[in-house]
Amino acid sequence: MIEGHFIVIEGIDGSGTTTQCVRLADRLTAKGLPVHITREPSDGPIGMLIRQVLTGRVVVPGHHGAHPSSWATMAALFAADRLDHLEAEIVPNLTDGVSILCDRYDYSSVAYQTVSSGGGSEAARWVRELNRRARRPDLALVLDVSPEVAASRRRSRSGSPELYETDAMQAELAAFYSTIDELFPDDRIRHIDANRDIEGVAEAIWAEVAALRGESP
Ligand code: TYD
Repeated sequence: MIEGHFIVIEGIDGSGTTTQCVRLADRLTAKGLPVHITREPSDGPIGMLIRQVLTGRVVVPGHHGAHPSSWATMAALFAADRLDHLEAEIVPNLTDGVSILCDRYDYSSVAYQTVSSGGGSEAARWVRELNRRARRPDLALVLDVSPEVAASRRRSRSGSPELYETDAMQAELAAFYSTIDELFPDDRIRHIDANRDIEGVAEAIWAEVAALRGESP
């Protein structure tokens, strides 16, 4: 059995990772290729806990305002969720010949937890080390979007902003993602200009996936 491809889509909040995962899945499915869409935080038990922290539903009695989990605690939770996600969902599908399209992976941990730690390179190295056992994807697509475009997309969504969704943090994250390749020298990372409309971004992604598959777009 030939293994499926493991493809990750990354970017700041509002960059369009979820929309583009669905677009890419539709396109691969139309070609008759089996695909499975998934995301991190995952839908497993640790991922569910993380989502409750992100939306402020895990509350510490007597504590008002933002939850107090440190960036290091969050990094450890995300890393544990990732290993569980790999074992329970990602690897079994790949082994069955199903390609995985994953909305965020350890690039998000390195970006978000490092930026929320204050941005030091020591933190980035530690987060990478925590994720050392996380299988490398075949392709990581980073959706580069200006913080202003992403902010206007986020404002058009329903619901309250999550933990990391402040304009200041998202601007720092956009800068971090633009040079994230330096922290993952062995990975196949491709940057996509995501300031365009959905179709334009989907086409650019398709060209990269076709190249991975050894086809012309
Ligand atoms: P997101 O992917 O935007 O999902 P939803 O649209 O369902 O809210 O939310 C996940 C948030 O978690 C996002 O702000 C990025 C952050 N995150 C990290 O900080 N570290 C990680 O390792 C991952 C996977 C996500």
